[in-house]
Amino acid sequence: MSDASAPNDPQAAIDSQGRRRGEELDDRIFEHSAGDEQVGIPFVGAGPGNPRLLTVAGKELLETADLVVHAGSLVNSELLDEYCDHAKLVNSVGKDLEELIPLMRDAYEDGDEVVRLHSGDPAVYGAALEQMDALEHEGVPTYFVPGVTSAFAASATLRTQLTLNEVSNHVAFTRPQGKTLSPEEDHISDFVEMGDVTTCIYLGTHAVRDTMDRLLEDDHDPETPVAVIYHASWPDEDVIVGSIDDIAEKVEEAGYRASALVVIGDAVTGAGYERSYLYGDWANRGSGSSDADTQTNETETQAGDD
Ligand SMILES: C[S@@+](CC[C@H](N)C(=O)[O-])C[C@H]1O[C@@H](n2cnc3c(N)ncnc32)[C@H](O)[C@@H]1O
Repeated sequence: MSDASAPNDPQAAIDSQGRRRGEELDDRIFEHSAGDEQVGIPFVGAGPGNPRLLTVAGKELLETADLVVHAGSLVNSELLDEYCDHAKLVNSVGKDLEELIPLMRDAYEDGDEVVRLHSGDPAVYGAALEQMDALEHEGVPTYFVPGVTSAFAASATLRTQLTLNEVSNHVAFTRPQGKTLSPEEDHISDFVEMGDVTTCIYLGTHAVRDTMDRLLEDDHDPETPVAVIYHASWPDEDVIVGSIDDIAEKVEEAGYRASALVVIGDAVTGAGYERSYLYGDWANRGSGSSDADTQTNETETQAGDD
């Protein structure tokens, strides 16, 4: 798999792996499921912060790791203390791919158990794939171990659902415009406009004022509920609840500029939802058939629909 012409150029590796991805599916997709033990460097989701929200697979991998490359302050140090105190720890913040890839490759090739630890779930604003592709290009296999993304910790803290019958039928994981997204690529206003979407904004704590100002300029209801959950599931977790109109002032008063999730929509409070079809009367009515299998299949289909 390695390209001897550019062994240490991550961009060439990403380009090459990107081309491969467009041409053929990786056989491992059909050989493994998420959660399986696999060969290579696992890219593990640490979850939102509380060590209890790490998956069993993630915990087992950390407990046997020799080298853990972690996402710095986004990973709760309690989790590192609890599961990785035997391992060499490297903070990835401030390191580029040119430094990180050889570090992980060399340790792996020396026979070390290497874990790449991302916050939340590595598949959500994790920039994991570029590291994985660069490693794969160097002949080092990699795989994902999912984690609890911060939006799920936030909804648990808020004691609500992100989808809620008659309130929110969709969820958007998004981020505001800035260095990475142009104003045209910022769809927060579009999601809010749809009315039945719970909009979960990552990487937007510093931009709450600008985001809310834009929503007001776009004539969205100023009373639309907004919650900002700082450090969801951490010991210093803080929940600020307000509306498009007043949340920016509240967040500024609290002084948060990072590490919070912004949730917009009626699901924030959960007010006004309707009983779902899943546990509606139909479940007690039966199918009129005495065939238990038929009834089970119908139940599963209905549950799937909901
Ligand atoms: C680089 S992204 C990583 C997201 C991560 N992969 C996830 O699935 O949660 C970092 C952003 O995630 C959000 N975030 C991460 N951990 C959080 C937590 N415990 N509470 C609230 N927001 C969090 C913040 O919006 C932060 O700016």
